[in-house]
Amino acid sequence: MELLEIAPKVHDEARQGEAYAPFALDNTEYKKKFYIESYGCQMNFSDSEIVASILNEEGFGATRNYEEADLVLLNTCSIREKAEQTVRKRLTEFRKTKEAKPGLLIGVLGCMAERLKSKFLEEEKLVDLVVGPDAYRSLPGLIEEAETGQKAVNVLLSRDETYADISPVRLNSNGVSGFISIMRGCNNMCSFCVVPFTRGRERSRDAYSIVAEAEDLFSRGFREVTLLGQNVDSYYWEDEAKGEFVTFGKLLEKVALVSPLLRVRFSTSHPKDITEEVLQTMARYENICKYIHLPVQSGNTRILQLMNRTYTREWYMAKIDQIKSIIPDCGISSDVIAGFCTETEEEHADTLSIMEYSKYDMSYMFFYSERPGTLAARRYKDDIPEETKKRRLQEIVELQGRLSRESNQRDIGKTFKVLIEGESKRSAGDWMGRNTQNKVIVFSKGGAGYQKGDYVDVKVTGCTQATLLGELA
Ligand code: SAH
Ligand code: SF4
Ligand code: F3S
Repeated sequence: MELLEIAPKVHDEARQGEAYAPFALDNTEYKKKFYIESYGCQMNFSDSEIVASILNEEGFGATRNYEEADLVLLNTCSIREKAEQTVRKRLTEFRKTKEAKPGLLIGVLGCMAERLKSKFLEEEKLVDLVVGPDAYRSLPGLIEEAETGQKAVNVLLSRDETYADISPVRLNSNGVSGFISIMRGCNNMCSFCVVPFTRGRERSRDAYSIVAEAEDLFSRGFREVTLLGQNVDSYYWEDEAKGEFVTFGKLLEKVALVSPLLRVRFSTSHPKDITEEVLQTMARYENICKYIHLPVQSGNTRILQLMNRTYTREWYMAKIDQIKSIIPDCGISSDVIAGFCTETEEEHADTLSIMEYSKYDMSYMFFYSERPGTLAARRYKDDIPEETKKRRLQEIVELQGRLSRESNQRDIGKTFKVLIEGESKRSAGDWMGRNTQNKVIVFSKGGAGYQKGDYVDVKVTGCTQATLLGELA
């Protein structure tokens, strides 16, 4: 799952000029305006698009300027302590706006809602509304309550809410790639992780509504969809009408069949659950992207056991081998945690060596941050000193830097099919797009009449650590 703590605004500045902004066109019809900022993973960003849809129905139009909003919402993340601190800081900033504009309503949505409801409402008096990830349908009623000066809260988690029937309003889309939530919650109890507590039990969304959403995006010019879930491989939906069982492999195939021109991606895969069926389906369809985010977390079996990841070092390595034998050109990325409870230097070295073995193209890397209420917080002591955690993380980051450079250098001279996502942020004379392995490629427009959403063949001529540079082939 991609973590976007560094990009707090839904309305990504870089994309603003060209953004596909369905709400902007009819903004004037709305009597009231809302502003939303999202933190955390893509699931949260995707939820903000559901919230936008619910609010549009209620007569609220989106604005990119919080100072003109009647309702300011923060869709929050609890994954690490730092994520929570960022949100608190932002809330204090909004309080100033509220002092100048007493009618303004401020709401906290998402993963911090459940954990901190009483704190936000009572102690901090910063917030008028607190709404958990499964309670967005109750937003209209809660807003009404809050407008009468009451504190409005709904943090109930659900066993079946998937928002399947709500058509998301694409907030900061480039008009080419869109996200589709296919499931919610998580049943894995990784001992470090707060997600099962903030988002509740796992449930899969109706496959028909997923395919319909992909078809709708395609008909509106989108050329890439990413299927989202905390653990997509355990997607499972029973079509009672047809007596059919839809696994993740089958779902991938259904979405791939929408059009050969529609690229399909997915995130996140759990190493214990990704099946051969999924790998074979990826190999069979050209438009299913050859890229897997397969978080390892640690390369040491004892630590993996403490983390409750339910696989061993050897099992993970065998999974990497299997991926490479079925999909030889597959891009692979990872999440890594440095300094989990009781981790020794040798165990940390196992993490470095498994990264080397897997040759990750990219990784998201963190040091362990204890989260209240998790299994690890209850069972183990957070005993690795902060300097040690940071030093180990630094070693992981440096190694990944080298692996990314080496991976990019191996691509020099190769030609890739690239989906153009838009102009390069740095230069209007260049396009930016991705290859099937999810690597970003920047190349000169070269006078040819292409547009974003087109597929072009690009030959790689150079690279930086993070980006391939190329020219039209
Ligand atoms: N469902 C995804 C990950 C969701 S959270 C999966 O299973 O892979 C994204 C990443 O944040 C995790 O993979 C993990 O590397 C990191 N993370 C989660 N909890 C953390 C914690 N307490 N401290 C540090 N990193 C954490
Ligand atoms: Fe958290 Fe593990 Fe679920 Fe991922 S699979 S969300 S890390 S509990
Ligand atoms: Fe995502 Fe953060 Fe919640 S990573 S699921 S928004 S705790």
